[in-house]
Amino acid sequence: MNRIVNARLRRRQGLFTVRWTAGVIDAVEPQADALPVAAPDGDTLDAGGRLVIPPLVEPHIHLDAALTAGQPRWNLSGTLFEGIERWAERKALVTRDDTKSRAHRTIRMLAAHGIQHVRTHVDVTEPGLATLQAMLEVRDEARELVDLQVVAFPQEGIESFPGGRALMAEAVAMGVDAVGGIPHFENTRDQGVASVHFLMDLAERHDRLVDVHCDETDDPQSRFLEVLAEAARVRGMGPRVTASHTTAMGSYDNAYCSKLFRLLKQAGLNFVSCPTESIHLQGRFDTYPKRRGLTRVPELDRAGLNVCFAQDSIVDPWYPLGNGNLLRILDAGLHICHMLGYDDLQRALDFVTDHAARTLALGERYGIEPGRPANLVLLSADSDYEVLRTQGHALASIRHGRVVVRRTASEVQWG
Ligand code: FE2
Repeated sequence: MNRIVNARLRRRQGLFTVRWTAGVIDAVEPQADALPVAAPDGDTLDAGGRLVIPPLVEPHIHLDAALTAGQPRWNLSGTLFEGIERWAERKALVTRDDTKSRAHRTIRMLAAHGIQHVRTHVDVTEPGLATLQAMLEVRDEARELVDLQVVAFPQEGIESFPGGRALMAEAVAMGVDAVGGIPHFENTRDQGVASVHFLMDLAERHDRLVDVHCDETDDPQSRFLEVLAEAARVRGMGPRVTASHTTAMGSYDNAYCSKLFRLLKQAGLNFVSCPTESIHLQGRFDTYPKRRGLTRVPELDRAGLNVCFAQDSIVDPWYPLGNGNLLRILDAGLHICHMLGYDDLQRALDFVTDHAARTLALGERYGIEPGRPANLVLLSADSDYEVLRTQGHALASIRHGRVVVRRTASEVQWG
């Protein structure tokens, strides 16, 4: 295969041919008319007027916990806290082979839906860091399907977990792509602040990206985002820093948020919202009305900040569903965030493509331009709006010029 014809491209009118050589795009040519493609010739994929996009990007998932729901017991209440209890039971059974096999199976689920870039958090509050070592091996082994970024994620804290700082430093020495944190989970506010400064120092010193689980709570007093944003601003690291979840922002009062947004814009950091996981786990201390428990996605977006959507979990103790389909998450996120206005619908895919690619700092490794990798996904409809409305799918995923996944479009047969 070395070209796609009759492709629609986002933000451009008409039909296009995209050509590549040795896995690199060498031309994106407008077509005067639709090109007839008689029979499949092995070199040409006929997009048939459907949308061709760069790959979907999954910016936040926990591959180390994926596919463990119900082992040994199900989370009956569905709460975050019972999830932590169930995970403690499952964690005791984790082996290197178990971690790697679940991660590979989950990556295939993601790749089957047109995802080729993935950022996974891996729990490093584990003496010996065997799970992290296993995931770094997966990063190499899965290159045929995805580019995997690994984040050192201190699930049980940095300051309040014994040896937490040393484990984070060791994880960086082992080669993680990004440094994580969980300041709202530390025992005290002071520890949370100290953890942010520690992890930013570590990332800056070793030239790593940053992705912090930040204020993942309904507590309106959880205000570590301002600490992270200020640290990013002062160090000039904003584009390399991501604040994940920030669900407390959904509970902040508007006066505080107004001041906070000024800082966020100065810092220029990235945001990840996990809408299905947050609507499921947050709001659990409310009676009625119940909060949605999401960060302020449309407000961040309209303020010019970079926001994207992510799955967070697939079939784990915190979230029992999920099948790798990021377009399902986009659908849910736009509903929950009141983003079904006309303009939002025309550019809906931004939140699972370009915005997520920016979060992962993919730069010129991403996009349909000459000189970039021939990583392309054919969708089942001709526009963002139609993909969303029809609950569309990735019909083909091309990686470095090679088709790695094909899916047959479903058809209705009338009696
Ligand atoms: Fe997470």
